[in-house]
Amino acid sequence: MISKELNETLTKSGPGTEVGEVMRRYWQPAALSDELAGKRPVVPVTLLGEKLVLFRDDQGNLGLIDRHCPHRGADLCHGRLEDNGLRCPFHGWHFDRNGQCVEQPGEPKGSQMHKQIKTTSYPVVEKNGIIFAYLGPGAEPDFPNFDCFRAPESHVFAFKGLWECNWLQAMEVGIDPAHASFLHRFLEDEDPADSYGKQFRDKAADTDIPMTKLLRDYTSPEISVEETNYGMRITALRHMDNGKTHVRITNQIFPEAISIPMSREMIITQWHVPIDDEHCYWYSMFTSFDKPVDKELMRAQRLKEHRLPDYAPIKNKRNNYNYNPDEQASETYTGMGLDINVHDQWAVESPGPIFDRTKEHLGKTDVAIIKYRRMLRAAIANLKEGKVEALPMLDGADQKKIVGPISNDTIGERESWQEAFVKSDAERRAACKGWDAKV
Ligand code: FES
Ligand SMILES: [Fe+2]
Repeated sequence: MISKELNETLTKSGPGTEVGEVMRRYWQPAALSDELAGKRPVVPVTLLGEKLVLFRDDQGNLGLIDRHCPHRGADLCHGRLEDNGLRCPFHGWHFDRNGQCVEQPGEPKGSQMHKQIKTTSYPVVEKNGIIFAYLGPGAEPDFPNFDCFRAPESHVFAFKGLWECNWLQAMEVGIDPAHASFLHRFLEDEDPADSYGKQFRDKAADTDIPMTKLLRDYTSPEISVEETNYGMRITALRHMDNGKTHVRITNQIFPEAISIPMSREMIITQWHVPIDDEHCYWYSMFTSFDKPVDKELMRAQRLKEHRLPDYAPIKNKRNNYNYNPDEQASETYTGMGLDINVHDQWAVESPGPIFDRTKEHLGKTDVAIIKYRRMLRAAIANLKEGKVEALPMLDGADQKKIVGPISNDTIGERESWQEAFVKSDAERRAACKGWDAKV
């Protein structure tokens, strides 16, 4: 458990907060490219407690500026997208993508006042289906060479979903390898051939054992964590009755992303981005090391569970997550259906919008959570002392050299599990034909 004060420090991310300052040093997912695909590419974006509007101008360039017009505060999300910028419908002030006011048609002829008016604007970059924004001071950092950024667009599918809770709760479920044996337990195994686009429904490594069975049979993983240049690597070992060991490698990517295996074919890189202190979006990039991603199928699978335009889950606390006690008795551990995202959503939302961590009791399997909080506190302290280069991936070294990270499930001999996961990763990369995945 932690103190009330520390819980506040670690959860608040608005402007001027300590975690907010750390997060603002990194590119943050702001929207999906899909959200700007319609006739009128203008969407509201609330990010780290800041209300913004994202738009694509006539030249196809993106702008991310303050949502409220600097004249008298009207909402620019209803702006007129014209003349290569966004025009406020209240008095016609016109802004370009850099937030510069370029025209005030109601002011006296010849007025130069507009030159003094520049609203907040942030740099944005589009990468494989996600539009990232940099809300921090100084020059924006380079992107590391993670698989989700290296792979071609054909091999990456991006999606997002709304969770009604603080970002840290969401982040902490992603670095907790123990929960998969319980929360995501299926009492019966599905045919792994029907597993496309779903997590934990494939076969385990190169065996015929369904992942669901393996997780069900071995419920007490040995978990270890090591700090890396991008965050940390989390290893979960499940020692099996046949003398072999199942190794699951997942990662925390600082400050609020994870990289985890989804199936033998795909990995998931997922950010848990604060909207405000009581809501967050998960943004996922599903990267394939095999065939191009069937985006149509993956989108359809996820749109069945989400409502547009805000990507809010259809099952949620207002309908009790479709909880069905009969299903809980015979089919799933939660009684909330087969979509594991709903299980995670219940796990992170049900403690309340900001969980009171003075009441928690962490066990041995929470080792990654404990380590992560230490890393976050160290980053806060370093930033306060002006040591930006002490933060992960901000040390000024060539970010292109940060690759991977390895995210996989492997079964190896008990004594040589280290070699086993490195080898299976290398084999998957070597077999990848659609893009150069070698590291
Ligand atoms: S409030 Fe926007 S132009 Fe007046
Ligand atoms: Fe989960």
